[in-house]
Amino acid sequence: MKKKLLSALLSVAMVATLLVGCGGATTTVEEAAETTTEVAETTEEASGDVTTYKVGVAIYQFDDNFMTLYRNEIESYFASLCTDTVKYEVTTVDGKNDMATQTDQIRNFITQGMDAIICNLVQTSSAEVIIDEVVAAGIPLILINREPLGDNGDESYAGILDNATVCYVGADARQSGTYQGEIVLALDNKGDINGDGKVSYVMIVGDPENPDAQYRTEFSIKALNDAGMETECLVEQVGNWATDKGQEIAATALSQHGDAVEVIFCNNDGMALGAAAAIEAAGRKVGEDIYLLGVDALEECQQMVSEGTMTGTVLNDHIGQSHKAVDVTVEALNGNAIDNYYWVDYVMIK
Ligand code: BGC
Repeated sequence: MKKKLLSALLSVAMVATLLVGCGGATTTVEEAAETTTEVAETTEEASGDVTTYKVGVAIYQFDDNFMTLYRNEIESYFASLCTDTVKYEVTTVDGKNDMATQTDQIRNFITQGMDAIICNLVQTSSAEVIIDEVVAAGIPLILINREPLGDNGDESYAGILDNATVCYVGADARQSGTYQGEIVLALDNKGDINGDGKVSYVMIVGDPENPDAQYRTEFSIKALNDAGMETECLVEQVGNWATDKGQEIAATALSQHGDAVEVIFCNNDGMALGAAAAIEAAGRKVGEDIYLLGVDALEECQQMVSEGTMTGTVLNDHIGQSHKAVDVTVEALNGNAIDNYYWVDYVMIK
């Protein structure tokens, strides 16, 4: 009955793209906020004994390998939790990597009367504004993937989540960086292929404002140094999590520094895929004359690690994180107390 009603409404409102989290049609909202609200209200009226919770999910950018896996899992896990009497209507929006766009989307969610908001911030330095507005509207806010630390891990952000209805669900990026370093340390030559007493590396950085990028960059090298290895940074450049940038940076570094490059660290697998292509094009061989590290454990990269074309990666558990984010959202929707932080472990893959 409810599904029929939804499809009728959707076919009338052609512009609407709506995600229903209960096994119905899966589409995604871009601009059609009003139509979504209308459908939701009608749905609630139509089924007196069913409670429908409206959840807004704001993703920093749909065009991101890892966040695509993550958001798809949020949607399917919500769908799996629907029962005859409780429904979750999930509306997912693309921030297009633009903070102003995302702020508008969050304001729309507030106007639409979302019962909870899950937000993957475009800029963690805007966390305060978003938190203030969502809290003032009395809506629980579950921040995911980008820990609100402000610019460069600004200490003044400590305590920013001190609010009964706000939390962060994520993985501690220091751990992923440390694991990258430990994978190199476990190699027979500890990454020092040419035996000159130091590990000469290229660092391909995600988005420098993102704590995941900051910590992975820092802690991968710290792990080597803490174990007594000397390191030399040949190139450190921003690849914004993107495969094409990873390829471009690695190709330039390899042509400039040639055999001196012993390890290429990438803050994520997306960029490592690009670096792998550049390594191959340069006639180098992972595991023989160069090492390549990523983070996320995308399926392709796990395959590459088992075939030896990548040295190692670190599982960024999008399933664990998305399920935790949804479980916490459900707790908040039920009026239960939530913590301010929920951590999901990374897993080393080598
Ligand atoms: C992932 C990256 C992703 C980024 C988005 C990180 O945790 O490792 O692949 O691009 O999150 O914020």
